[in-house]
Amino acid sequence: MFVNSVIIYLFAKRKLSMKNYIYTLILSVFILIGCGPSTNTNESTSTDLSKDAHSFANFNDIRVSHISLNLATDFDKKVLKGTAKLFIKNYSNSKKLILDTKKLSIAKVTLDDGEETQFVLGPESDIFGQAMTIDITPDTKFVTVEYETSPDAEALQWLSPEQTLGKVHPFLFSQSQAILARSWVPCQDGPGVKFTYDAIIKTDPDLIALMSAENGTEKNSDGIYSFKMDQPISSYLLALTIGDLKFASTGRNSGVYAEPEMLDKAVWELESMQSMIDSAETMYGPYAWGRYDVVILPPSFPFGGMENPRLTFATPTIIAGDRSLVALVAHELAHSWSGNLVTNETWNDFWLNEGFTVYFEQRIMEKIFGKPYQEMLTKLGMGDLERTLVELEEDGKIEDTHLYLELDGRDPDDGLTDVAYEKGRFFLQTVESVVGRKRFDAFLKEYFSENKFKPMNTERFLTQLNTKLLKDDAEIAAVNANEWIYGPGLPDNVPAVNSTELDRVERSIAKFNNDLIDAKSIDTEGYTTHHWLYLLRGLKNLNIDKMQALDDQFAFSKTGNSEIACDWFKHCIEQYYKPAYPFIKSFLIRVGRRKFLTPLYERLAKTEENKSWALEVYKKARPGYHSVSANTIDEVLNYR
Ligand code: BES
Ligand code: ZN
Repeated sequence: MFVNSVIIYLFAKRKLSMKNYIYTLILSVFILIGCGPSTNTNESTSTDLSKDAHSFANFNDIRVSHISLNLATDFDKKVLKGTAKLFIKNYSNSKKLILDTKKLSIAKVTLDDGEETQFVLGPESDIFGQAMTIDITPDTKFVTVEYETSPDAEALQWLSPEQTLGKVHPFLFSQSQAILARSWVPCQDGPGVKFTYDAIIKTDPDLIALMSAENGTEKNSDGIYSFKMDQPISSYLLALTIGDLKFASTGRNSGVYAEPEMLDKAVWELESMQSMIDSAETMYGPYAWGRYDVVILPPSFPFGGMENPRLTFATPTIIAGDRSLVALVAHELAHSWSGNLVTNETWNDFWLNEGFTVYFEQRIMEKIFGKPYQEMLTKLGMGDLERTLVELEEDGKIEDTHLYLELDGRDPDDGLTDVAYEKGRFFLQTVESVVGRKRFDAFLKEYFSENKFKPMNTERFLTQLNTKLLKDDAEIAAVNANEWIYGPGLPDNVPAVNSTELDRVERSIAKFNNDLIDAKSIDTEGYTTHHWLYLLRGLKNLNIDKMQALDDQFAFSKTGNSEIACDWFKHCIEQYYKPAYPFIKSFLIRVGRRKFLTPLYERLAKTEENKSWALEVYKKARPGYHSVSANTIDEVLNYR
């Protein structure tokens, strides 16, 4: 224990007499058994967490260490109903436990042996939900909350059978990041708090339930599933999905769950998964979570992927038929280290999750698919970042171009931009370029092993960087971390981004944009998805005739690749290229991935003619979207 080590150290250094030593020792025992001011007796939580502006919880007084869930699904009412038992460690003799909740209807709360207790729900905030303050005693070991979720719990999407591939069974999935866990589990909903959990989920016997925990691979005839997650996780990683899903293995400790119609395709597409896990481990140390599986969800899933521990949730739009979009799996897998093991302490430190993950994703991709492939991804990433920086500047949101964000009072979603991802990654690439890959890798390996299962914040990371990696003032100056983290835009020491593959595309774009060649003469021999994306993003001076020629030549409107479709549709909207509109419409109705929806609806909203068309489409599409996407698009279209 820290206090004792200090005493022993002082004694050894002869700074304390024997009498004083004994006196001090007795005093320290008193402090340690709780007579002193809020001394923390638990090793793993011995540091106070930074204030979290996105949580009501009093986690520095009392910490939830384990949650036992017992929930049943009601697909007709679209609710989960049951109990959450929260085991707590009370560090400050506190008589109030404050939890985060959102639209939960709470039947009762009991303490330990079953005695009912009082609770109050605070004022309701659209973003943060409601604080739930529960009366406890300093000795309370656990509280049991009996509750039901709201049919419009924001984390949960209840899908009708029509929204699935099989069209027969309903489907449910959760999305807890960033602060939506509180809409289905009353909890301390801040990323700094880590707890283990177990769960019993009762559902329809035709369906299988899966969680971010140890999972089975077969349906149970009674529809009752038990789960266990023995490693501590943050609330944003609580996850549940239920549907008609089948499992297939992809290697030693990896596999895929998907609807039966999709399973073979998914297994083929994700063939590289096991080698991704194996090569990640060689770089940054052992995979800490046992198995790594991916579940392919229906297309309304609002993200590309979500790194739920042991079970990444993924959009079916990565199943492109040519294995070209698997970097997403490398990304979610990389979160098993950056994010799930070493976790951003608050959402202001979000870049510690995503920037590290993009850096690590690129390293995995380079290892498996080679340098030219990784260079293409990096160049595309730089393009995205540059466009995002311009947009944020134009909107007067300069502070949001800093790596360290000040999101207090705002939805943490506001921090979900290419800044955390790509500026974060380019910062780490800068560090790598200053110290060399060998030293950087050794530092990262130690960083993950020393900080595993702990939160990390930007300040502490900087201290570690400066004390453990950078060896002198010259290196500290060469990295220029403060400007990257607390300053706007891109510092001058950003590494150059080159891709021979994309240089070739660049030359074609220049000629086509200046009408020196027509669509037919663009040499697309050997193009992969990434070449096409680069081409589409570079097109300028378009008009209807050129759009038609491109479509005749390359059939973009009909592509089954969602990334290519999205980039093409952006031009179609700007050019009023009407032959593509039926395809845009069916895309917007079928796919609920926000990254695709936002830029399309934003462009549609720019002119009256397009906007009224968009509103018609949105009326049909909106009931099929997850709340994450619907909330964003409501704002884009000023809907309601
Ligand atoms: N953890 C994120 C998704 C997320 C972030 C959800 C913040 C809610 C709030 C996930 O790892 C992610 O970054 N997904 C990306 C894919 C990735 C390849 C960039 C996505 O969904 O597009
Ligand atoms: Zn991510």
